[in-house]
Amino acid sequence: MTIRNLDDLLAEGVSGRRVLVRADLNVPLDKQTGDITDDGRIRAVLPTLSALVQAGAKVVVCSHLGRPKGAPDPQFSLRPVAGRLGELLGAPVHFAEDTVGDSAQSTVADLADGQVALLENLRFNKGETSKDEAERGAFADQLAALGDAYVDDAFGAVHRKHASVHDVPARLPHVAGRLVLREVEVLSKLTGAPERPYVVVLGGSKVSDKLAVIEALLPTVDRLLIGGGMCFTFLKAQGHEVGTSLLEEEMVETCRNLLERSDGKIMLPVDVVAADAFAPDAAHDTVPADGIPSHRLGLDIGPETVAGFAAALSQAKTIFWNGPMGVFEMAAFANGTRGVAEAITKTDAFSVVGGGDSAAAVRALGLDESSFGHISTGGGASLEYLEGKTLPGIAALEN
Ligand code: 3PG
Ligand code: MG
Repeated sequence: MTIRNLDDLLAEGVSGRRVLVRADLNVPLDKQTGDITDDGRIRAVLPTLSALVQAGAKVVVCSHLGRPKGAPDPQFSLRPVAGRLGELLGAPVHFAEDTVGDSAQSTVADLADGQVALLENLRFNKGETSKDEAERGAFADQLAALGDAYVDDAFGAVHRKHASVHDVPARLPHVAGRLVLREVEVLSKLTGAPERPYVVVLGGSKVSDKLAVIEALLPTVDRLLIGGGMCFTFLKAQGHEVGTSLLEEEMVETCRNLLERSDGKIMLPVDVVAADAFAPDAAHDTVPADGIPSHRLGLDIGPETVAGFAAALSQAKTIFWNGPMGVFEMAAFANGTRGVAEAITKTDAFSVVGGGDSAAAVRALGLDESSFGHISTGGGASLEYLEGKTLPGIAALEN
């Protein structure tokens, strides 16, 4: 595939040109205060933005935040992100009150060379996520009118067929930014010929979200370790009672089938931390995976499971990890996620952490990011990449 990248654009010269950058600044916000709780995605796009600033471009950044319903909604405003981005860049970021309207147009028109503007949330406009080509196209026209060239650095959104990801590049000279390039380089190592043993750890709440990637990975991996909320549907498929744990009843048969076909590659928890309630201070105990009391719910994998997973990981030469092992936001249920993360950092395997939540977990638990080979900014995007799906945002960049 031939994808032009930022260096190609810089070589053409961008001084005085308006460069529209699609970033994924969809950062987690504190529900009470609205503060940014993890700015990893903002920092990840700095190399691209700084290079454009230094080259004298008029940099117009756009992004989504959360899932507003196609109309302005103050709780999803990107304004706090503009502030943080400005701090990190060391220069003010001009904020447009709308995405393509009067404010956006005048903000962009007023930019001096080397200055940066951030447009308001793309998803405040129905056209951004519309399934109707014409509606999406009309919005893409308005967005494209704000730039002379387009850079996609929103790896976390490349799996979305949205106007800013899929339709704008058809309207402007387009390149991949530094982040998108690096993500694709790293993930293509995993789909190519990964060094073996190749061990994958999957967590998170739903089997249904991970089913396609499990199907795609099973023939490829040597071991597949499953924790997080989704392990209970697998435990049920093994014939265990799971109390009031998260359970996707309609997936039990599918999980049973996967276990039968997995050639023993799938490793499930042998113990879990079971609690009285989904609460930080709930009474809880470690119990065997086949002995979860009927009134309790599993909120983390247990220490014996962590030890087993760590042993499997210690053999690995390549590791991919997506999804927390438990409710790591609550200290009582963070040990599984911490244990697995620490086990990964101790190996000399090439390790890739995929997913907004797992990446945030690494930082929230105070682990050293540099002891992982790569921390992806994309959750759904990295999974769909590994599934071998065509990603609309990447396809749009190919010439
Ligand atoms: C993410 O956080 O997964 C990306 O920013 C994509 O967001 P979305 O799942 O709302 O499309
Ligand atoms: Mg997502």
